[in-house]
Amino acid sequence: MSLPSTMNAVVIEKTGGPEVLDFRTDHPVPTPQAGELLIKNNISGINFIDTYFRTGLYPAPKPEVLGREGAGAIVALGPGPNPYNFQVGDRVAWLSTSGYAQYTAVPAAKAVKIPDGISDEDVMASFLSGLTVLSLVKETYAVQKGDWVLVHAAAGGAGFLMTQVLKSIGAHVIGTAGGPEKVALVKGLGADHVIDYRSEEGKNWVEKVKEITGGRGVDVVYDSVGKDTWEGSLEAVKRKGTIVWFGNASGPVPPLPLTKISPKCVKVARPTLFGYIETREEFEFYVNELFNQLKSGQLKARIHKVYPLEQVRQAHTDLEGRKTTGKSLLKP
Ligand SMILES: NC(=O)c1ccc[n+]([C@@H]2O[C@H](COP(=O)([O-])OP(=O)(O)OC[C@H]3O[C@@H](n4cnc5c(N)ncnc54)[C@H](OP(=O)(O)O)[C@@H]3O)[C@@H](O)[C@H]2O)c1
Repeated sequence: MSLPSTMNAVVIEKTGGPEVLDFRTDHPVPTPQAGELLIKNNISGINFIDTYFRTGLYPAPKPEVLGREGAGAIVALGPGPNPYNFQVGDRVAWLSTSGYAQYTAVPAAKAVKIPDGISDEDVMASFLSGLTVLSLVKETYAVQKGDWVLVHAAAGGAGFLMTQVLKSIGAHVIGTAGGPEKVALVKGLGADHVIDYRSEEGKNWVEKVKEITGGRGVDVVYDSVGKDTWEGSLEAVKRKGTIVWFGNASGPVPPLPLTKISPKCVKVARPTLFGYIETREEFEFYVNELFNQLKSGQLKARIHKVYPLEQVRQAHTDLEGRKTTGKSLLKP
């Protein structure tokens, strides 16, 4: 197969606002090295983590092509062994870097074939986010039927999937979301209570959570909002409860004196997906779980919008402006 030498890609030379996202039509197509696959991306995922790399909250060498995941067809294999038996033409989903591009060279160990019956779009609306959710509810804190769980940003890419997964386990879910439309969306997923934490009434969401749980507090909080919610999350969790801080949508949680968590004997975790899927076995375990749930219809993905690659600045502006529900995708 003859491949072009240049492609469309979004490059950042320096950190900053959405304006540093530079759409280019002459970026070199990468050459897959040993252990890599070259993918022609059909669709790429946009994740909040991309904004952390763009702003510099998470450091990375520049210039950088953002994007942690994609779905498309293998167009070339790097030299050497092929332990996962990939073939040119296979439809795959991958987790790596440089997804905001027409072609990406990715480690074969972090690519999987997409089963028939699941679209590239549905995979991208649930891949990085869904694998995160599954690992957080299974390993970070093993959610049990009957647990009371507080999920912040429950209408977002990760929150939309987490609410469904928690309900399928049989947990009682209290979601927070900004605005009536988001609240209605989360209620529609079966959440037991949804609090609009941006409304006048919902500003005292901590009190509401206590009221709902009979003063006890929740067994576990999944908090990806960070700066604006971390103190409330500490108040809303029960004695001997767990807080899972897994994101910084409003900014990072500040350094936490351990004396803050001792009075209630609270357990605190700060996990990252990539720590749970380091080995091929771990990666396949969660991927199989995700694909099974998508295929059976137990888990439904929600696409906010598919943005053409050249509209990437708008996509970041919408995501950071809290204008999205479910997942935003990029069409390279
Ligand atoms: N640790 C990991 O491995 C891992 C993996 C995946 C995702 N995450 C984290 O999970 C979170 C969700 O990621 P996502 O990609 O699915 O994004 P998302 O939830 O679709 O978007 C973030 C949401 O956070 C809420 N939010 C609250 N305060 C905000 C603020 N000041 N600015 C912007 N948004 C704010 C908004 O919902 P409301 O309007 O409803 O408040 C917004 O829609 C992020 O924090 C991300 O870093 C972590």
